Amino acid sequence: MSTEVSIAASATACAHPNLALVKYWGQLDPVLNLPANSSISLNLSGAITKTTVRFARGLESDQVMINGAPPRAEAHHRVCDHLDRVRTLADISLRAEVVSTSDFPSAVGFASSSSAFAALSLAAATAAGLDLDERELSILARKGSGSACRSVPDGFVEWVAGRDDQTSYARQLLPGEYWDLHVITVVWETGQKSVSSTQGHRVAPTSPFYSARLERIGSILEAVRSALIERDFATLGMTAEREAMSLHAVAMTSRVKEMPWMSGIYYLSPQTLGLMLAVQRWRRKGLRVYFTLDAGPTVHLLCEGRDVNAVVGAVEAHLQSEAATGADIVQSTPGRGAWLCNKEGGAMVAPPST
Ligand code: DP6
Repeated sequence: MSTEVSIAASATACAHPNLALVKYWGQLDPVLNLPANSSISLNLSGAITKTTVRFARGLESDQVMINGAPPRAEAHHRVCDHLDRVRTLADISLRAEVVSTSDFPSAVGFASSSSAFAALSLAAATAAGLDLDERELSILARKGSGSACRSVPDGFVEWVAGRDDQTSYARQLLPGEYWDLHVITVVWETGQKSVSSTQGHRVAPTSPFYSARLERIGSILEAVRSALIERDFATLGMTAEREAMSLHAVAMTSRVKEMPWMSGIYYLSPQTLGLMLAVQRWRRKGLRVYFTLDAGPTVHLLCEGRDVNAVVGAVEAHLQSEAATGADIVQSTPGRGAWLCNKEGGAMVAPPST
C-alpha cells in the first residue's frame, strides 16, 4: 500500500450469523436479492464476524482481507460491489481497506455470508458518514447477501419478502429474551460445499417440488410465528425440521446446468445424516430436541434452556461413538443485531481532493 494513503474515516462493526427457522430459498430478483418467500430466523450469539472499513485517500482500488488473507476473486468482487453501493448512497468515490475476521468457518452451512455482509454494511455505512436506520441498513445488507438482512435486527426476526427494493427487509418479531431457546451447532471437519447458496437459489425453480414448497410456505410462516408467540417448542421444532428438509428436497432435485454430472445438489454429508437420525432416536426416548440445516453439512440443534446439558451430552457421546473427534460444537442463544464495536466510526467530512 502507498505511503501517501491517509485515512479519511473508519468504523468497525460486528454481527452474528443467523439461523433460519423458515428458510429463504429461491429469488424473485437475483440482482436485488428479492426472495421468493418471507423467512424467520434468530441470530446465533456463539459466532461473530468483526469487520473494519477505512475509506482512504490515495488508494487506487479496494483492499480486502478476510481471515488474514486476500479472498478469492469472486468474494473480492462481491465485497467491492457492496462498497460501491455504499459509495453511491454516500456520494463518495474513495476506495477502502476492509479487514474482516470470523470466529467460525465459511461455506459449510453456518450462514457466514449473513454476518459478513451485515457487519460490512454497518461498518462501511458508518465510515462513509451515512446514518441509516435499521430498515435502511437491513435493505443495504440484503443486497450483499439476502440472509444478511436478518442479522441486522435483534431477537427473533422476520424478513418480509416485499415487492421491491424498499419493501424487502427484516424486522424484529419478538425480543431474544422472550424465549430461552438454544441452538447447538455441530460443525464437521469437512471441506467447503461445492455449490454455493447463490447458485442454489438460482436453480431452485428447476425442481418439480419448488412450486409445492412455495404454495405451503405461507402456512409454515404462520405456524412458526404462532409457535414463537406461544412458546410452543414441539410445534416450532417439528415445523423447522420439516421446513429444512423441504429446502433440501428442492436442492436434491434441482438441476445445475454447469454441473451436468450431478443429479441434484447434496449439501448433506454422511455425518450430517447420522446426527439427524440420532436426533430422531433421542426424541423417541423423550429428549426435546430438533434439527435444522442450511445449505451445507453443518447441523443446528434446537432445544430449550432446561434441556441444553442433556442435548450437549448426547451430541458429545454421539461424536465420540462416530469417532468424529474433529467436529466443533458452538452454543448460542438468540443474539443481538449488528452493532458498532468501537468508537472510531463517525461522519466522514467531504472527501478531500487527491
Ligand atoms: C440455506 O443469503 O447465503 O442459508 O443471497 O445468494 O447470498 P445469497 O444467499 P444466502 O442464502 C441463505 C440460504 C440458507 C437459508 C436461509 O438462511 O434462509
